[in-house]
Amino acid sequence: MAKQTKVSAADSGQEFYHPSKEVVKNATIKDYEKVYKRSIEDRDGFWADEAKKLDWFKKWNKVFDDSERPFFKWFVGGKTNIAHNAIDRHLKTWRRNKLAIIWEGEPGDVRTMSYHALNREVSKTANVLKSMGVQKGEIVTIYMPQIPELAITMLACAKIGAAHSVVYGGFSVEALADRIANAHSRVLVTADGGWRRGKVTDLKSIANEAMDRSPTIEVCITVKRTGHEVHMENDRDFWYHDLMALPIASPRCETEVMDSEDMLFILFTSGTTGKPKGLVHTHGGYSVYTASTHRNVFDVKDEDRWWCAADPGWITGHSYLVYAPLINGSTIMMYEGAPNHPYPNRWWNMIEKYGITILYTSPTAIRGLMRFGDQWPKRHDLSSLRLLGSVGEPINPEAWKWYHSVIGNNECPIMDTWWQTETGGFMITPLPVTPLKPGSATKPYFGVEAAIVDEKGNEVKPGEEGKLVIKNPTPGMARTIFGDPERYNETYWKEYEDKGWYKAGDSARIDEDGYIWVIGRIDDVIKVSGYRLGTAEVESALVSYPDVAEAAAIALPHELKGNAIHVYCILKAGIKGDSKMANEIKNHVSKEIGPIAKPEEVHFLESLPKTRSGKIMRRVLKARAMGVDEGDLSTLEE
Ligand code: WTA
Repeated sequence: MAKQTKVSAADSGQEFYHPSKEVVKNATIKDYEKVYKRSIEDRDGFWADEAKKLDWFKKWNKVFDDSERPFFKWFVGGKTNIAHNAIDRHLKTWRRNKLAIIWEGEPGDVRTMSYHALNREVSKTANVLKSMGVQKGEIVTIYMPQIPELAITMLACAKIGAAHSVVYGGFSVEALADRIANAHSRVLVTADGGWRRGKVTDLKSIANEAMDRSPTIEVCITVKRTGHEVHMENDRDFWYHDLMALPIASPRCETEVMDSEDMLFILFTSGTTGKPKGLVHTHGGYSVYTASTHRNVFDVKDEDRWWCAADPGWITGHSYLVYAPLINGSTIMMYEGAPNHPYPNRWWNMIEKYGITILYTSPTAIRGLMRFGDQWPKRHDLSSLRLLGSVGEPINPEAWKWYHSVIGNNECPIMDTWWQTETGGFMITPLPVTPLKPGSATKPYFGVEAAIVDEKGNEVKPGEEGKLVIKNPTPGMARTIFGDPERYNETYWKEYEDKGWYKAGDSARIDEDGYIWVIGRIDDVIKVSGYRLGTAEVESALVSYPDVAEAAAIALPHELKGNAIHVYCILKAGIKGDSKMANEIKNHVSKEIGPIAKPEEVHFLESLPKTRSGKIMRRVLKARAMGVDEGDLSTLEE
């Protein structure tokens, strides 16, 4: 039984899940406290050592530069390229023949690619992009289903020094058009569609509609995935496979030498107000940070088969499906479709079939699969698994325990990783040797100082709820908001300017054992099924419905999704709302933003609770909906 986890009682009365002897024996880092202490006391030295594990065309002069705070720089003067570290350097070793990607399409088609083959595809694609005039520094928008070409296009952009902006394939017309406009993209790479629950998602039609609203687009490259009929515009639209067959698509392409601080990508994410913001990540610090966290937290070995089941359209997919595992030379698994198609054993079948050793996914996915019962995973041999991971939202202990016992056979520690689009990589997370408590992301990663503070910025006592802050910059943090540095400062750093802390936007508790328990967002960001949306976007889609005069959106707890969106609408004078209109409004939001934003419920109201300065008090709506105390109403105008 040396492989099984032991459970013991903690001082706080909760349970500790201890790593088995086997896990401890295999772990590269056995003493978290010792490494952590060093990482804080000699921060630059720690990060320099992590950076030395990657290749550099030219070494940095300075590890960390805070002369323009909060616009921090890392590995200043260093020259590198993430594509070099993710692909090129492996080609000189035996890993050239190692599988880089195992991909399964929803209909069951399979593609595999060695690092050698991946390099060929990336180089050819890079040359195709160059032939379309793509230049260093320009931002290419990518809107694709989960197919290898998505990762290939991201890497091809990086290779030639262009930045990418991946828009999640579940987003719709308005979301895509907004993001294209904000990035000033000239080139869009998309696909005719993808497979989801046995149906074709018609990405090209959505892309066409978005391009009609996007004057900056000159070129659209379309990957043929489903083969259904799509509209192609002369002079603008090209098939990817046609371009890849031309002599310009040579398999030789120089990797561009990039500065550490050169832009690698922007990724739009929802904030408290207004339109989504494009967070900027760079080649140097991001490579070092994502590779370090992935290597240490998941104790990655060459024998591993790593499956991050997130979509590359979100930060989890960028950092831990594509970049970090490839930098670490892992074999990555990628799956196109729904977890329960055609049956609820789809994932478990793939774990068995491909011998997956680490599964990293979201609590929503776990809860969704748990619902179908133990018989589905029990039909499969999941013994290849050695570690599990969770991300995106707090995991409830019930789902944690199911994941641990039924999927992990009580043998696989669960790495519950707390982080954000803004942080680039894990910030609060266990290591395999950390005794775990179901539902807690445990402790800060190396080089990270986290605290939970009250309104005045004083650390709260164990057990009390407060705001989560990060006390120091880390190499993987976003550098700015694209085109809006002031908003970057304002959103994350202004509140604790004198202390130099980063505001996470989450509330949390710390317990007597120093374990951190993240509770959830305290701003107007909503996490639905682990996906990040803003009330502002939903409200903007609501008021674009002809009969809606004013609207508010809030998140309410939901058993499966974590949170669900509830909306409140004031209709234009003389119009009465009914259930038919409520349904139309739901579908309208879904069409404008995407199915994940579809409201759970639509309520019609005569007025909305507002402050005297006219701001909607969403917390009052939420308190009323949940039947709890409405709190301080002194600013309410009614
Ligand atoms: C939430 C996703 C609890 C949190 C990587 C954060 C989590 C937001 C966890 C960022 C976790 C992420 N436990 N909550 N392990 N991981 N969150 O930018 O509210 O899509 O602020 O990044 O997700 O969402 P984002």
